[in-house]
Amino acid sequence: MSISRLLAIFIFLLSCQQKEVKGEEFVIQSMESYQRFSQKLWFAGQAENWELADFYTHEIHEVTEELIEGDVYHDGRNLSKLAEDMIESKIEDMDKAIDAENEELFVKNYLGLINACNACHTAAEYEFIKIRVPTINPFNQNFSVPK
Ligand code: HEC
Repeated sequence: MSISRLLAIFIFLLSCQQKEVKGEEFVIQSMESYQRFSQKLWFAGQAENWELADFYTHEIHEVTEELIEGDVYHDGRNLSKLAEDMIESKIEDMDKAIDAENEELFVKNYLGLINACNACHTAAEYEFIKIRVPTINPFNQNFSVPK
């Protein structure tokens, strides 16, 4: 085997390893963002602050896009594909409720979104991580519509 071929294999292996390490951190960061933004989305919706709700839905969409485009594998599972199949359409539903400024539809579609989080946890064999509708507001943030 030529040196250049060996070198090519070595670089390939190195890049695989880097991807795996980045993958782990990337997933945990994505999940922290998901959790925070989905909590804040709830309080924005409860305050019928549609501009703010739209902002957080957009943030959740961005996290999702990065997951989908990142070609992320976790414990051998294709998380990018799971994200695309499970959560994309729920974000679109959320957008519809916000555009309609419809509180009832917001609650319904929020549950759909949260169920999608949990469905992916189950699909990834992390079914012990269960997201629910927030009950208390821990944020030092005013969610109401600006006067
Ligand atoms: C594409 C699949 C997928 C989707 C969609 C998904 N998760 Fe996760 N989530 C995971 C995986 C895999 C882990 C375990 C990560 C690890 O091993 O560190 C995880 C872990 C978590 C954790 C535990 C880490 C922590 O910081 O406590 C939380 C919380 C979490 N997810 C929240 C959410 C929320 C909220 C949503 C929906 C808005 C969501 N996830 C959507 C796959 C997903």
